[in-house]
Amino acid sequence: MSNLNLSLRLSAAAQWVPQYARLCDVGTDHAALPIWLMQQGRIHSAIATDIRTGPLERARKNVERYGFSGKIQLRLCDGLSGVTAPEVDTASICGMGGKMMMAILEAAPWTQNEVRLILQPMKSLGELRKWLSQHGYCIEQERVIWEEGHWYTLLSVVGKNDETVLTPGMEEVGIPNRWCREENRLNYLNYAVERLERQKKGLERSEKTPDQNRMAYLQAALAELAIWRHSLEKGVWPI
Ligand SMILES: C[S@@+](CC[C@H](N)C(=O)[O-])C[C@H]1O[C@@H](n2cnc3c(N)ncnc32)[C@H](O)[C@@H]1O
Repeated sequence: MSNLNLSLRLSAAAQWVPQYARLCDVGTDHAALPIWLMQQGRIHSAIATDIRTGPLERARKNVERYGFSGKIQLRLCDGLSGVTAPEVDTASICGMGGKMMMAILEAAPWTQNEVRLILQPMKSLGELRKWLSQHGYCIEQERVIWEEGHWYTLLSVVGKNDETVLTPGMEEVGIPNRWCREENRLNYLNYAVERLERQKKGLERSEKTPDQNRMAYLQAALAELAIWRHSLEKGVWPI
């Protein structure tokens, strides 16, 4: 059977999976990530979970097609609820909302102990970063991927109390000294600034009494991002 083609987004997630990991891919859908990692001989074992029968059936078909029945275990469950701590040392959660990720991790506090988490949230990134930093997790590294007209952010996280109190800029785009050094970082910052500017204008135009807290947050985030952008434009990496 030929090698499975992985999207850039999932390839980036795969790069962070440690060699011989005991992986759980949460919300696996087509099971592309564990199948690819098995094909490359990168992982020791894999469990793939999904909360819905349709995606899990898709995963089952793919797992059979690529000859990994019995090697990739499929489990119908909410998040990590059907998995026990000794079974995994790495958990990937890709392609779902940040709030769902918080709920999944909240229900699996054992992930704070020696589990590498690879998270690729589709939305609520600021809330997720803040939640992680307040719940005993440390974001060690971040990547941004541009694929098919969309930006995707990936976080590599471990359970370790992080002393860093996140500023609004850090909530929105991450902590600069944890960013991977990537060519496209400046483009991503430009995109983030435009997005926040739009939100600020929306608030200014709103007929309702403006939310002063939100406005102060957006202004503070934009001020920080302007400084980081200026550094990157000058070829200096912000600290
Ligand atoms: C958009 S797909 C992402 C598939 C794959 N992880 C990827 O990144 O390409 C999201 C999947 O997460 C599953 N899902 C959503 N909430 C879940 C939860 N609480 N526990 C397990 N799976 C969940 C959905 O059923 C769906 O199959």
